[in-house]
Amino acid sequence: MKNIVITGATSGIGLAVCETLLVAGHRVIGIGRSAESCDKAKIYLLSKKNNADITYFNADLMQMAEVRKVSSKIIEYIDSNWDGMLDVLINNAGCVRSRYCTTKEGYEQQFALNHLAPFLMTYSLIDSLIKAKGRVIVTSSESHKNMSMRWDDLMFTRFYKPLMAYKQSKLANMLFILGLNDRFSKKGIRAYCVDPGLVNTEIGLKQTFGIVSLVWSLRKKKGVTPDVPAKTYHFITSSETHPEGMYIHGEEKKEYSSYVNRENADRLWRISENLCGVEFGRLR
Ligand SMILES: NC(=O)c1ccc[n+]([C@@H]2O[C@H](COP(=O)([O-])OP(=O)(O)OC[C@H]3O[C@@H](n4cnc5c(N)ncnc54)[C@H](OP(=O)(O)O)[C@@H]3O)[C@@H](O)[C@H]2O)c1
Repeated sequence: MKNIVITGATSGIGLAVCETLLVAGHRVIGIGRSAESCDKAKIYLLSKKNNADITYFNADLMQMAEVRKVSSKIIEYIDSNWDGMLDVLINNAGCVRSRYCTTKEGYEQQFALNHLAPFLMTYSLIDSLIKAKGRVIVTSSESHKNMSMRWDDLMFTRFYKPLMAYKQSKLANMLFILGLNDRFSKKGIRAYCVDPGLVNTEIGLKQTFGIVSLVWSLRKKKGVTPDVPAKTYHFITSSETHPEGMYIHGEEKKEYSSYVNRENADRLWRISENLCGVEFGRLR
């Protein structure tokens, strides 16, 4: 039985992952955007397994202040109920936008939710992960390929292209996971990106309009149901030994972009530390 935290646990891939992990007997903390969506998801999961060990916390993870607040509540919960040990952190929450939108803290929303939130959440929970020699998973995507970081304008303030900003955020996931393995594998942590494939969810229809929602409403019909990628998270979570590779689809490691190298990973790491106001080297 594993202790698991997952973000984006109220719909789509994240909700299906919760169901798969709970049915397999694991203990799960889910994070959702609102109290209502968390309540609804909990009722759904308990209808699938009436004694499921599921606890929800809600937070708008686009706001780094909220990531900090919810992670301290999670640490309290882990310390009181799980002996301070977190086996798996799944950073899965994500969004798509049609136009340039910023968070209260001034960051472009896709960059904030899809990259900075996983970075800061992992930083905040790293002690509990180290204690359990845990695994970290981020939901990335094939869309990280044929892409580079716009280093001089990471927030895409100029000539905003929604798809490019999304692709960059998924590339940032890959660079983060490479950087995390580099720094923490000696402490027993292993980190992975999952490529879920094309999945039929509502992601492209939430707070979007025009071409983005039109394209997604057509494209999603070709996607698999969320229970399909959920098996990958179950595989990474439950394998006795660390699965091989860093980028996983199904149960196989996959090739990733050559842009995902140490130099780029270190550069993004430093920038992310600055933006989040943390230093992984100086843990609590
Ligand atoms: N669908 C695909 O084909 C596909 C392919 C590759 C990668 N992905 C990635 O898979 C992940 C999950 O996406 P999905 O397709 O399953 O879409 P989804 O159903 O929209 O799931 C996204 C999750 O993130 C949550 N979320 C959104 N904004 C949030 C915020 N500000 N604070 C906290 N939580 C927030 C959503 O909450 P609500 O339930 O309240 O909306 C939901 O639980 C994303 O990282 C996405 O980039 C998806």
